[in-house]
Amino acid sequence: MKRKSLKKKKIIITILICIALVFIPSIIYSNHHIDVENISFKSRDIPKAFDGVKIAHLSDYHNHGEKFDKRLVNILKKSEPDYIFITGDIADKVFTDIDKANHFLKEMSCIAPCYLVWGNHDKNIDDQDFEKMNSYAQDCGITVLNNDVVRLCKEDEYISVTGNYDYIENVTECGKDEFNIWLNHFPENFEIIADGTKNSGNQMDLMFSGHAHGGLIRFPGIKGLFAPGQGFFPEYTSGLYEYNGSSMIVSRGIGNSTTTLRLFDTFHVIICTLESENAMN
Ligand SMILES: [Fe+2]
Repeated sequence: MKRKSLKKKKIIITILICIALVFIPSIIYSNHHIDVENISFKSRDIPKAFDGVKIAHLSDYHNHGEKFDKRLVNILKKSEPDYIFITGDIADKVFTDIDKANHFLKEMSCIAPCYLVWGNHDKNIDDQDFEKMNSYAQDCGITVLNNDVVRLCKEDEYISVTGNYDYIENVTECGKDEFNIWLNHFPENFEIIADGTKNSGNQMDLMFSGHAHGGLIRFPGIKGLFAPGQGFFPEYTSGLYEYNGSSMIVSRGIGNSTTTLRLFDTFHVIICTLESENAMN
């Protein structure tokens, strides 16, 4: 009997060691590596002047810290983006060192013109900290979009960028007949915004989003285990999606929320290159 139970113990220990050997390096890799994904987005509505324009998309920084910023800056400088879109959760509601958020914002603002929307963590930090971060972003020259629309101009041609926290219908009044980009932290808003803007006659063309953190655990065939707002086995976690004539790009983020960790789900920087179908004619 003793021999049998000893054998059982040995088998269990061997299995646990094997699991640890596979999972521990994967956890370390997932929570360190920054994956750069290049996406070409082609549309006949993109003006010729914007053909080849590169947008770096970052999301969910969660007060990651200065060492991380250095690595990020190197990656972005190599990519030479024309614009940087930041889709929220720069701060973290638990680890609230706002100087880290501000350092990140400063670094990004030195690389390219930045456009930003806030996320749920940003809105949940102390009011004074939020105000500090909000004014610091603007002092750095970052355009903070809070239910606002701005126009990007190149050689007398325009595209519009709408940024909002919730879905607010009246912002669709701006940017009519232009290529419409939306920044919204929550990918679960995609279909609502796509339908709403289509019905208003001013359809959203491309939305940038984050929040899902890639679904935290990704396996082949399982593109994310859980995402807030979408629940288990979420649909919108990473990359390019299409729905009813609109598209959305979701970043898996560049930080971790509170104490969560990732598995088989690396940090994610997207470089989106706009391609104008008009430029090919
Ligand atoms: Fe987040």
